[in-house]
Amino acid sequence: MMRTPRFIQLQPIDDTLRLDDVLAGLMQPVASVSPKYFYDVLGSRLFEAITALDEYYPTRTEAAIFGAHASDMAHRFRAHAGTAFDLIDLGAGSCAKAAALFDAFAPRRYVAIDISADFLRQSIECLQRAHPAMDMLGVGCDFSACLDLPDTLYEGPALVFYPGSSIGNFAPPDARRLLAEACTAARGGGLLIGVDLVKDTAVLEAAYDDALGVTAAFNLNVLRHLNRVAGTDFDVSGWRHVARFDGAASRIEMHLEARRAVTVRWSGGERRFAEGERIHTENSYKWTPATFETLLHEAGFCEVSCWMDAQARFGVFLALPA
Ligand code: AVJ
Repeated sequence: MMRTPRFIQLQPIDDTLRLDDVLAGLMQPVASVSPKYFYDVLGSRLFEAITALDEYYPTRTEAAIFGAHASDMAHRFRAHAGTAFDLIDLGAGSCAKAAALFDAFAPRRYVAIDISADFLRQSIECLQRAHPAMDMLGVGCDFSACLDLPDTLYEGPALVFYPGSSIGNFAPPDARRLLAEACTAARGGGLLIGVDLVKDTAVLEAAYDDALGVTAAFNLNVLRHLNRVAGTDFDVSGWRHVARFDGAASRIEMHLEARRAVTVRWSGGERRFAEGERIHTENSYKWTPATFETLLHEAGFCEVSCWMDAQARFGVFLALPA
């Protein structure tokens, strides 16, 4: 018999609040927009296209690491947490990465969390057809500010799954806070997390500035999204994509640079940009195996294992609490 997946929306989707958020960022001395705003429908498709680019190694490298080592990871996790646990997928999206782990980990329940509730609903309904007997729950929630999952959602222990180096969008203090919240959410289970690693600058910069210009389109698309949700009047053709690795901060920075002086207007405000002035759209932090292990310990985890590809481009960490 096929089960019916359940859905809940944890926070109200409040457009006013998001709009304030966006306009405040645009008014800062150095204008910025949260990378959350990349992911409208077109932006999500452009990101999918990025993951297929030759230059963008993280997605396929992470998949290869899971392909080679998932059963080893599952063995370690199940030895610690037992066999009755929920798989909690943070930023589940298409749910494809978690579904690829069902065989090895055999969770009793799948809890998929994503900011994009409509997309998640479609994904999980499709996944339920492929796994008719699995108990599934979809949760619409923006966990970037706080990962605080109600007790009624699951019993625990849980395997908290956070793949794709999404943790890279968080500055170290925020990353430490989110990992500590994941440690609590695991309720005696553990965390399985994919992390992009520090490497040659040319390799890093090519991954964020590809020859086909897909990443440029992904970055520029945020302006279209802002025009729609915040009523701004950005002319996309007046802006250029910039991606640079800052070695001191250990992060890729993405910016949009004004090709010429422009005034952007919206109802109740405006912002003048000089030629060459930038809007900061994303940080993507890169870690070493040692610095990320330290971060996991600071977040409250005790035992940490790491699996990497042969070139040490990407790491998958299994972190277990006491
Ligand atoms: C989804 C945050 C992991 O930082 O590599 C890809 C987003 N930005 N290309 C990353 C992204 C530009 C991606 N994360």
